[in-house]
Amino acid sequence: MLLPKPRGTMSAAVFEHLRSPEPAPGERWPTSPVADSTDDELITLWALQELSYRGFEDTDGDHKGDPFVLAERHQLESALEARLRSRWTDVELEDDFAEQFFDFVAAHDGPSLASFILRKADRDQALELMQARSIYQLKEADPTTWVIPHLAGRAKAALVELQYDEYGAGDPDAMHSQVFAAGMEASGLNAEPGHYINDVPAEVLEQNTAMSLFGMQRRLAGAALGHLAGFEASSSLPSQQMAAGLRRLELPDEMAKYYDEHVEADAVHEQLAVRSVCAAFLGDEPHATQDVFFGAFTCLDLEARTAQHFLDRWEATA
Ligand SMILES: [Fe+2]
Ligand SMILES: [Fe+2]
Repeated sequence: MLLPKPRGTMSAAVFEHLRSPEPAPGERWPTSPVADSTDDELITLWALQELSYRGFEDTDGDHKGDPFVLAERHQLESALEARLRSRWTDVELEDDFAEQFFDFVAAHDGPSLASFILRKADRDQALELMQARSIYQLKEADPTTWVIPHLAGRAKAALVELQYDEYGAGDPDAMHSQVFAAGMEASGLNAEPGHYINDVPAEVLEQNTAMSLFGMQRRLAGAALGHLAGFEASSSLPSQQMAAGLRRLELPDEMAKYYDEHVEADAVHEQLAVRSVCAAFLGDEPHATQDVFFGAFTCLDLEARTAQHFLDRWEATA
């Protein structure tokens, strides 16, 4: 994967820096880069986080211990977290966590891309959505893997069980990321991770950077697990609609099969994520209950924002 195209002054400066040798420990930016827009901040953060996944071919070294990178990432993640928290209001906690959680997810009412794909989308719109989804789905489950070493006991064992399934249970062709890649290739799309990064809107970058933020920070483990459970608990029906919509558009069956897989798998995963992972985690760390709901809210809210972006654009061109 190559570094993305800059989206402003900050990303231009940071990407230029990543193409240069790492500075010595303790050095600071000669002049700290200033962002022109949220889009500029998000593409910068996305790239800095990506250094901790598979990295880029066109950086000079991996910049893992780069003091500029660490300071910049910390600042951008703090701004992102503050923005996500500003959209959230604490819930009134009830006795039964699992029931309250499922009700909370079910009550969230946002625009749905899956129902648009099912009923109205044309092939180009469906392919555009696949491109946007590929930023996450070609590394599906990776942001959650960061959380495993932050956990202990039953929550850890249950999360590994869920992740094992996401990673294909020992069969590389069954890894969800690989099933998605096969669907992209069959649809004539490029399945190289990050290939479409320059085409995706800020909303998609915010979804991806939030998942990495929650996954990588120990103090946000509750938000990461709530995000996971919110994702799994809101996936089964939309996956069914996506599969039917892609078949209506006569797109290759390989793509629809990715969604078929999620109809069944996520009906199991939602139970595992809510009742085994989150409930066990909260048994050990009850103070994190609001963060679990905050993580679920963020998952649903960011998906609604992404959906609104595409629906507005597609309806404007209809
Ligand atoms: Fe999956
Ligand atoms: Fe899943």
